[in-house]
Amino acid sequence: MTTTKQRDQAIDVRGLTKSYKTLRVLRGVDFSVARGSIFALLGSNGAGKTTVVKILSTLLKADAGTAEVNGLDVVTRAAEVRESISLTGQFAAVDEILTGRENLVLIARLRHLKDPGTIADDLLGRFSLTGAATRKVSEYSGGMRRRLDIAMSLIGNPPLIFLDEPTTGLDPQGRIEVWQAVKELAGQGTTVLLTTQHLDEAEHLADRIAILHQGRIIVNGTLTELKRLLPPATVEYVEKQPTLEDVFLTLVGDDGEHPAATPSPAPTSEDPR
Ligand SMILES: Nc1ncnc2c1ncn2[C@@H]1O[C@H](COP(=O)(O)OP(=O)(O)OP(=O)(O)O)[C@@H](O)[C@H]1O
Ligand SMILES: [Mg+2]
Repeated sequence: MTTTKQRDQAIDVRGLTKSYKTLRVLRGVDFSVARGSIFALLGSNGAGKTTVVKILSTLLKADAGTAEVNGLDVVTRAAEVRESISLTGQFAAVDEILTGRENLVLIARLRHLKDPGTIADDLLGRFSLTGAATRKVSEYSGGMRRRLDIAMSLIGNPPLIFLDEPTTGLDPQGRIEVWQAVKELAGQGTTVLLTTQHLDEAEHLADRIAILHQGRIIVNGTLTELKRLLPPATVEYVEKQPTLEDVFLTLVGDDGEHPAATPSPAPTSEDPR
């Protein structure tokens, strides 16, 4: 019997285990992701994040446990699962010799969608790539490739998207652009599961955050819930120093086009005298 709770879940994972030969990567992973939410899976290099994403997107079989995506079992209903998701892998899957627009049109054609050109132009606009539409992807920056990659994964409006380390290798502006795109998606009702090693990315984006460590989810909650796990904050009066990211973004400008005229002098407490 399907309960209301299950219907509200875009992802439901129970007791997932996976080993590569003798390496036990997943040792009983449980979590669920509510429809329309952004869920961040955190973990160090080699924690098993990509392994989880591959199992959920039917690219890899688990050894034990169950996983449902959009209410469909990933093993017994793999084809339907694949139709209801999109995956942006850790390494961009764009075709270098095509232009950005050609990449988008190609995917829309492969998905048998009507009017691939309009779909491509709409996505180019949403991801600030209109100006680069007719340039070959081999000439794109890393951030442009990432945005194109995410745009490609949205063709056909899948209700659930997996983003495996969507901002690795991007500069702060590129990351913010990807974050905005992800937030817009979730705002339109798309469920997003993203993996990241950047804690601030999870802080900025995710409704819920889970940490995968030594094969299990060791915590899973909202940012507020996770912060409550530590001792209560003590109140200290400190002069707030800008972070390096604040400085970078002030000097370079959020959109990369309007640099601040003159940087402010360094705060006095930084003065070595
Ligand atoms: N096909 C494979 N064969 C053997 N071992 C593998 C295979 N794929 C992954 N592993 C190992 O499984 C572990 C988990 O890998 P996984 O790629 O899932 O980690 P990850 O959390 O995504 O790491 P990263 O942050 O580096 O992307 C690693 O130790 C990795 O070396
Ligand atoms: Mg990975």
